[in-house]
Amino acid sequence: MQTSAIGLGLDTTFDDTSVAIMRGKREILANLTLSQYQDHEEFGGVVPERASRKHLEVINQLMTFALQKAHLDFSGIDYIAVSNHPGLLGSLLVGLTVAKSLAYSLQCPIIGVNHVEAHPYANVITYGELPFPILHLVVAGGHTLLIEAKAHFDYKIIGRTLDDAAGECVDKVAKMFGHQMPGGPVVDQAALMYPGDIYDFPRPLLNKNGNNFSFSGLKTAMLRFREKHLENISSKENGKMQKLEEGPVLSSFFQSVVDVLIHKTFKAAETRGLKNISVSGGLAASQKLRSAFEEEAAREGKKLFYPPANLCTDNAAMVTCLAAHRYELEHFDDLTLDAFPNLIS
Ligand code: KG4
Ligand code: ZN
Repeated sequence: MQTSAIGLGLDTTFDDTSVAIMRGKREILANLTLSQYQDHEEFGGVVPERASRKHLEVINQLMTFALQKAHLDFSGIDYIAVSNHPGLLGSLLVGLTVAKSLAYSLQCPIIGVNHVEAHPYANVITYGELPFPILHLVVAGGHTLLIEAKAHFDYKIIGRTLDDAAGECVDKVAKMFGHQMPGGPVVDQAALMYPGDIYDFPRPLLNKNGNNFSFSGLKTAMLRFREKHLENISSKENGKMQKLEEGPVLSSFFQSVVDVLIHKTFKAAETRGLKNISVSGGLAASQKLRSAFEEEAAREGKKLFYPPANLCTDNAAMVTCLAAHRYELEHFDDLTLDAFPNLIS
């Protein structure tokens, strides 16, 4: 199959609607993402029904904009890529139904993609083909995984979170301190501005439970800390921590998250003799996390692959990039392709 084929990819796994058009495996002709964060703000979290409805409202327009940006019309599309798991079922079904309708009417192949497996392909877009074997750390709002990959489509999950994902923990802690979703950028800013060693928060499972993570204990520790200290400061600013005090707290909290992610990842790489490490997923958009990984990789002599921030958060380009590798091998799905919420069917 020709490697310059044009793929249109859709990602509607959670609360972002994303459409990408790519030529070959790396050339992004369009990559447009609409976030729904503000649509769910008043409910304190993503409302699945509302998320599906929102995807439906915007997806056609987003495809039109993407085609315009790529200077193409539908007749120029060679295949359709779509994330069909994991995620919110109603949201996934919107993307999948649109993808199937397009594949049927354009009479072109459809390729279903695992959204989490697609995150590391942000690095393929950025650097070109990655060397194998490689250790992927995927740190997102819904998943924290360590994956050992021997080749494309030949990988094993060797570590995962036992409870909250790292991004989920960061979002919840930011919310405790009165910040809106997504909490990652606020926490990252605090971490860049203040030292991370003012408070000593827990580093869960740092030297325990192999390659697995746990972040719910840290979240509870932050809740307790906030309750304890709220009394001392509540007179100052109507119950909300003052910026001056909050910065070092959030920075120290994030240092715990970063330390755990770094320690577990480099330990897994050492134990398995892996020289190549790739980091991806929304939390990887953190500048603090990026520089911590860069420093550690230099110290440990590992080759690090780390995408730019806009390819860390959910986007359809990474999905299309993975699908382009399957297109080349003619690994197509058909119109019986289904959506399912779990990481593995
Ligand atoms: O990959 P993603 O967009 O969605 C999932 O697949 O889950 O990741 C979302 C996560 C959220 O926790 C959000 O707070 C975090 O990525 N995030 C960031 C930044 N932008 C998004 N974290 C730190 N710094 C950022 N700039
Ligand atoms: Zn994601």
